[in-house]
Amino acid sequence: MNILLLGSGGREHTLAWKLNQSPKLNQLFVAPGNAGTSVIADNIPISVNDFEAIKATVVNNDIQMVVVGPEDPLVNGIHDFFLNDPDLQQISVIGPQKEAATLEGSKEFAKQFMMRHNIPTAAYQSFTAATLNEGFAFLESLQPPYVLKADGLAAGKGVVILSELEEAKMELQRMLVDAKFGDASTTVVIEEFLSGIELSCFVLTDGKDYKVLPTAKDYKRIGEGDTGLNTGGMGAISPVPFADASFMEKVQKRIIAPTMEGFQKDRIPYQGFVFIGLIKVGEDPFVIEYNVRLGDPETEVVIPRIKNDLVEVFEAVAQEQLRNINLEIEKRATATVMTVSGGYPEAYEKGKEISGLTSIKDSLVFHAGTTLKKGKTVTNGGRVLAITSYGTDFKEALAQSYQNVKNISFEGMYYRSDLGFDL
Ligand code: AMP
Ligand code: GLY
Repeated sequence: MNILLLGSGGREHTLAWKLNQSPKLNQLFVAPGNAGTSVIADNIPISVNDFEAIKATVVNNDIQMVVVGPEDPLVNGIHDFFLNDPDLQQISVIGPQKEAATLEGSKEFAKQFMMRHNIPTAAYQSFTAATLNEGFAFLESLQPPYVLKADGLAAGKGVVILSELEEAKMELQRMLVDAKFGDASTTVVIEEFLSGIELSCFVLTDGKDYKVLPTAKDYKRIGEGDTGLNTGGMGAISPVPFADASFMEKVQKRIIAPTMEGFQKDRIPYQGFVFIGLIKVGEDPFVIEYNVRLGDPETEVVIPRIKNDLVEVFEAVAQEQLRNINLEIEKRATATVMTVSGGYPEAYEKGKEISGLTSIKDSLVFHAGTTLKKGKTVTNGGRVLAITSYGTDFKEALAQSYQNVKNISFEGMYYRSDLGFDL
């Protein structure tokens, strides 16, 4: 079968690498892709949000399945666009429809879903400019630190955590009245601060059945010891050592099962990945957020641990046959180290030539932000390359990635050398 994969990051290069191993695959297209995907697939230079161009690509290349990497096209309704077009109705789309994607597109919608289905999460209230004073009063009733979340998508920047009440009130005003995050902060969710350690849990569902994928932990801060600004993710490991059998039993019973039953009860169709951002408070799991896609860089450690033919698994999702799939998970651990451009997550330069790529033999190199320029691979984003390795445990896997990352260089290259420090 011919498959179109949407996206251009490390998540998509990893998915492309895995799909490419399937005997069921005929031709793989990635839109827009990166230098890494260009080696194993045909890159199509179109935007993930240009649905008409995607339609033309699908029709012209006899594509039978579209796999959606990032959240944007899902929140914009790409799956619905396919279902509503007679020319595209028969094409399988891996990724939920717009209604379910609202779980990621609106924090308030996600909170209401969790409340309705008794899924443990931080206590909250939501406010608009019309209820600013009630918002101030709610902040006064809370203990610091204060967690303020823009309701809509804000490129990963919409969550602000502040330790002072006055700062929190000013921030609430900036979000609601001064539209700090544009339309995304028309509504703001204020919630109780939860103190604990975070992890990512992934579920793949066909709308009827589901499979729980390996857990992962990503490292979001730019600086060693989890300091400095938030990034898209500086590395990840899988599995998560503290997510042991007894903890995962609680996650299954209190969170995964009620989430899946919630989709049934609310009649929300869902075919694709559910990414549950969890926090372990004491011994108990709480949901921090839902995403409707795989995480990045979590994909770079989770997908390499799945032994199945991914095309077969996705076909089962599209045909509501996931119950017939027996997921086989690699026992070895994985770790990935993200190399980033100097200056990231603030201003950084692009177009730096990358050297050493072909010298990496015993790690996998997934491109995150790269492109080809005059036949050379150059940097094209903040996050540039993810170096993934296997090991008997995450420490061994990390050590291997750290060994191999030394062979790679580009001007301004930076990576965190303390991943796993907290485990
Ligand atoms: P989100 O965009 O919802 O994932 O939030 C971004 C980050 O803010 C999370 O990864 C957490 O580190 C932090 N965070 C969000 N909500 C809370 C909360 N209720 N308590 C503590 N930390 C939180
Ligand atoms: N690594 C977190 C995310 O993909 O949202």
